[in-house]
Amino acid sequence: MMQDRKTLRRHMRARRQALTPRQQRQASQALSHIVRTQLWFRQARHVALYLPNDGEIDPSPLIALCRHLGKRLYLPVLHPIRHNRLWFTPYTADTPMRRNRYRILEPVLQGKPVRPAQALDLVLMPLVAFSADGGRMGMGGGYYDRTFAFKLQQHGLKGPKLIGLAHDFQRQTRLPLEPWDVPLDGVATDCCFYRISY
Ligand SMILES: Nc1ncnc2c1ncn2[C@@H]1O[C@H](COP(=O)(O)OP(=O)(O)O)[C@@H](O)[C@H]1O
Ligand SMILES: [Mg+2]
Repeated sequence: MMQDRKTLRRHMRARRQALTPRQQRQASQALSHIVRTQLWFRQARHVALYLPNDGEIDPSPLIALCRHLGKRLYLPVLHPIRHNRLWFTPYTADTPMRRNRYRILEPVLQGKPVRPAQALDLVLMPLVAFSADGGRMGMGGGYYDRTFAFKLQQHGLKGPKLIGLAHDFQRQTRLPLEPWDVPLDGVATDCCFYRISY
């Protein structure tokens, strides 16, 4: 009985938290090999990603690869004013970091330029569960939905490519989605890339 959002969220979080460090390392390496060959990755210059939390698949090998390739990296920061939205700020090897209210590491904002969400080329985002038709379930705060709500109006035409990163077991045949849920353009896992075509 996985229909109910809360039950599914709890189940998936427990499962990813139970992975060993070795399993996490293998998954993140495999993910990196899958992502690096994709055209949308090779073409992207301004790339937002995240630091892993709660058993999320670890994009660290991708961070190293992006730096090697000269891409500009950004991390999400909780928006200081606008409720449950994200800001994106540059992330380099010497960016000062702090823990936010969820205890997730984020760049210290002071005087940092912020890149508008519309001006990113690619956003690699964590998720709790996904469906192969582009459905994304997050941690329940709706942060990415609010931040990328503009994509709902102009499907695929403007704005960054939105790609979920996940362990393959986080895939569901169906997800209970709501009108505000912003669909993904694809999901990359430790074994596969799921391209979503509308
Ligand atoms: N664009 C939006 N504008 C206003 N509220 C939103 C928007 N997107 C999501 N929300 C709110 O955020 C809450 C969490 O969204 P939900 O999709 O359940 O979380 P998540 O995407 O993290 O799994 C919902 O109660 C929803 O009403
Ligand atoms: Mg949502």
